[in-house]
Amino acid sequence: MSLPPIPKAELHLHIEGTLEPELAFALAARNGVELPYATQDELRAAYSFSDLQSFLDLYYALMTVLRTEDDFADLADAYLARAQAQGVRHAEIFFDPQAHTARGVEIDTVIEGLTRALDAAPAKYGISTRLIMCFLRDESAESALATFEAARPQLHRIAAVGLDSAEVGNPPSKFREVYALAREAGLKCVAHAGEEGPPAYVWEALDILGVDRIDHGVRAMEDDALVARLVADQVPLTLCPLSNVRLRVIDELADHPLPAMLDAGLLVTVNSDDPAYFGGYADDNFTAVRDALGLDLETLRTLARNSFLAAFLDDETRALYL
Ligand code: HPA
Ligand code: ZN
Repeated sequence: MSLPPIPKAELHLHIEGTLEPELAFALAARNGVELPYATQDELRAAYSFSDLQSFLDLYYALMTVLRTEDDFADLADAYLARAQAQGVRHAEIFFDPQAHTARGVEIDTVIEGLTRALDAAPAKYGISTRLIMCFLRDESAESALATFEAARPQLHRIAAVGLDSAEVGNPPSKFREVYALAREAGLKCVAHAGEEGPPAYVWEALDILGVDRIDHGVRAMEDDALVARLVADQVPLTLCPLSNVRLRVIDELADHPLPAMLDAGLLVTVNSDDPAYFGGYADDNFTAVRDALGLDLETLRTLARNSFLAAFLDDETRALYL
């Protein structure tokens, strides 16, 4: 008999990346949106990516089926049901407001819909949650600032800001003003850095944006001084192993630097990123690295413990999980 999934926190999860083909087709029908794929199988056949951009093109195209508050609530509820089955006890969830407002969907529609599902999650699924509002780094700094101001009335529902989308050519320093405003407003800060971009982008996220965690950060291993800094400050890194393989950040899972990162003393966690696209949810990622890298139970327990150490929880709640 197999063991139940280890209790864990999920800290790197794009809610739009949990849109499974089945729900995408259901929402397309509900909203009268025409998809450029005749069947779910045809859509799934397109899930073969050469890099981050080739994924993002499909990710943004498919999310056009999300239009109403109910759509966002249904999307988040479907994720939470799957997360519960994968041992997730706490989830910190990214959303991309600009990907919706650019299509004429109000930011309040997005936040209200997501919040409805998240507010029900403790009683319904035994999962606590946080919401992280991401800025699209391939959009302008002005657009990020306008998005932050549009979200101001809803900031009590948002725990942190993040930075995602096409990394190379869009360094963290581009967003220094909006991160300063977020910190002034008492929000935590995270940023994708060192996924496809160089170690210099991780330095900028730390020193210019003042982030509390780095999302991905695999390429930090190319810079010994950066590793020393991340270890000294115990800055958490939210790794996404199956994502790294699907987006060709690494060739195969057996090559993943996760064991070397743990050996270096880095505070690493394992997460699913965009599970509908990358072949697995939170525990699927744990199982995949266990099998490909030969991790023992104690190492898996360390990864799970790290996820709670790195979570934006108050100390009393955190203690419940450690
Ligand atoms: N990287 C950058 N941006 C993203 C990703 C990712 O893996 N997923 C969704 N937006
Ligand atoms: Zn991501």
